[in-house]
Amino acid sequence: GYRAEDDYDYLFKVVLIGDSGVGKSNLLSRFTRNEFSLESKSTIGVEFATRSLNVDAKVIKAQIWDTAGQERIWWCWQSRCAAVSNSCDSKRKSEYRAITSAYYRGAVGALLVYDVTRHSTFESTERWLNELRDHTDPNIVVMLVGNKSDLRHLVAVSTEDGKSFAERESLYFMETSALEATNVDNAFAEVLTQIY
Ligand code: GTP
Ligand code: MG
Repeated sequence: GYRAEDDYDYLFKVVLIGDSGVGKSNLLSRFTRNEFSLESKSTIGVEFATRSLNVDAKVIKAQIWDTAGQERIWWCWQSRCAAVSNSCDSKRKSEYRAITSAYYRGAVGALLVYDVTRHSTFESTERWLNELRDHTDPNIVVMLVGNKSDLRHLVAVSTEDGKSFAERESLYFMETSALEATNVDNAFAEVLTQIY
């Protein structure tokens, strides 16, 4: 039957996390607007976009949140400023804490993204996972995403390494390319279906 365009049965909040430059914003724009930008700037503040999917004759509306990787402030907070950077003072720390809890509040799904061409972004996933688990319900559905799979000749993280980390941590796993639109819909759809 007919349904209004903005009618939905479920609204699920999904957060994007991972180091700066791994492609979170482009995964979001690819999924919600089918757009990709080679020259995208680092995200400032928090953005979100929505897209609705049909699952079992139900309409699931995904509200996907995106923010900057913010490694520097994150590191500063995590290490309690043991490794002091210029930008790290107690005000920044408490701001970051406030942003972090608002960002994660109510999230029922997450895409934890690394860049398959930069091993350091894969090493960071454990810290992101700890932050996620500190701020969300234990039942949250998490998909580990190795993005930029189109850069085949530059791969620094093998599919096997991604897969085994995901298995060890009980995460779903997919390699994606926001550029080529490979597995982007699949990754979001799998998270939304598992939540549902
Ligand atoms: P922050 O906002 O700083 O946390 O970064 P981000 O994770 O949102 O990364 P963003 O989406 O801005 O992408 C960073 C760079 O990687 C941009 O130059 C993108 O064009 C590029 N990029 C993103 N996804 C892909 C991909 O799948 N393949 C390739 N080759 N480049 C990509
Ligand atoms: Mg971004």
